[in-house]
Amino acid sequence: MDIIAAKRDHRRLTDTQIDWVIDAYTRGVVAEEQMAALAMAVYLNGLDRAETSRWTAAMVNSGTTLDFSDLGKATTDKHSTGGVGDKITLALTPLVASFGVAVPQLSGRGLGHTGGTLDKLESISGWSAQLTPAQMRAVLYRVGGVICAAGADLAPADRRLYALRDVTGTVESVPLIASSIMSKKIAEGTSSLVLDVKVGSGAFMKTREDARLLAETMVAIGQDAGLRTTALLTDMTRPLGRTIGNALEVREAVEVLAGGGPADVVELTVALAREMLTLAGLPDADPATALADGSAMDSWRAMIAAQGGDPDAALPTASCTHDVVADRDGYLVRADALGFGVASWRLGAGRARKEDPVQAAAGIELPVVVGEPVRAGQTLFTLHTDEPARLDRALAALDGAWKVAPGDSGEPPAARESVILERIGG
Ligand code: URA
Repeated sequence: MDIIAAKRDHRRLTDTQIDWVIDAYTRGVVAEEQMAALAMAVYLNGLDRAETSRWTAAMVNSGTTLDFSDLGKATTDKHSTGGVGDKITLALTPLVASFGVAVPQLSGRGLGHTGGTLDKLESISGWSAQLTPAQMRAVLYRVGGVICAAGADLAPADRRLYALRDVTGTVESVPLIASSIMSKKIAEGTSSLVLDVKVGSGAFMKTREDARLLAETMVAIGQDAGLRTTALLTDMTRPLGRTIGNALEVREAVEVLAGGGPADVVELTVALAREMLTLAGLPDADPATALADGSAMDSWRAMIAAQGGDPDAALPTASCTHDVVADRDGYLVRADALGFGVASWRLGAGRARKEDPVQAAAGIELPVVVGEPVRAGQTLFTLHTDEPARLDRALAALDGAWKVAPGDSGEPPAARESVILERIGG
C-alpha cells in the first residue's frame, strides 16, 4: 500500500520498491487489485527515466533470460509496435541473417486489427513456432535467423501485467508500454535492437508526438540496459504494401525476397536491415543487393525448413472472394489503415480473444494503392474469406475508409513519398 500511495501522491518509486513490487506480483503476493491500482497510478502520474528502466529490469528478472553471447555471431533484432499489412519481419529476418548476423526474433500472435508474425508464418505448411531454447540456439547457429514463440518463463511479470492492464484501462501509458516491449526484447538476449514505431490510424500511437515519446522512451531503456537501440517512426495512416492477412502477407514477403514487391515494403525492409546491420557492426553491408542476388531468399528457405516448414508448398487460398470496384475514373486518394485492418480482422484474419483461431487465407488484396489512377469498373480491393457470412461486416468496416476522387477534383493523389518519417537514437 505504501508503494501505491507513493505513486498516487506523485512521488518517485525507489529501486527497492520497484524490485519488490514486480517480484511480489509475479509470486502472487501482491493481489491483482493492488497491482491494478498501482498501474492506474503510473498511468496517471508516470514514471521517470530511472524508474522506467528499473521497472523494465525488474520485469526481465522475473523470469529466465536467453544468452547468445557465446554464439560467435553478432545478434540483432527488430520490434514493430504493430500495424496493418506489416509483414516486414518475414523478409527482414532472413535478409539480415544472410549477412552472417544472428537474428533471435521472438514474436507474438495478432490481437484485434493488427496481425501477428506467428499467425502469418503458420500459414506455411508444416512450419512450427514452438521451439525449445536449445532448438532456437541450434537454428540460430546454423541458419542465422529464427522466428518463434516466447516461452511462458520469459518476462512472466509482463505477461500478467499486460493482461491486467488490458482490462483496467491502463494499456495506453508510455512507460508501461515501453517497459513491456523492452522487457521481452532484453530477456530475449539480443545485443542490439531496432524499433519500428508506427504512427497513424492503424497504429497504437495515433500522433507523431506520442510515437516520438514512445520511441525515445524505449531507446533510453535500451541504452540503460546496455542494448544498442535505435528507432524509426514510420507511417501507418494507410496499409503497408498490397496485402493484408496471413497467407496473403507471406506471399508478398516472398515477392520481396525474390527482388520484387511493393515499393513501400521494400523501402522499409531495406532501411530496417541497414539499421540492424550497422548496429551489428556491418555499416557497409548492402541489403538491397542481398534481395536482388537471391541470398536473402536462400536464407528464408533455410529458415522455414529448419522449423519444419515447406518453402515450396502452395499457400492456402480462400474459398470465397469479393471484389470492390471503382464507380468512377480518378485516383485512389484515401485508404485508411484502421478501416482496412478491422475489415481484414472481420474476414477472419485476426482474433478477438487470445484463444480464438485465425483463418490463414482470409484478408484483403489491394491491387490499387493510394496515389494510383483507377478506371470505373476496375477492382480496387479483393476481400478473401472462408466464411461468406463475414463479408457484410467486413464491407461495413470499409465504408468510408477509402475514396476515389476524379482527376479534376483538385484533390491531390497523395502518393506516399516515404514510409519513414523520422529516425531516433544512435
Ligand atoms: N505491446 C506490448 O508488448 N506491450 C504493451 O504494453 C503494448 C503493446
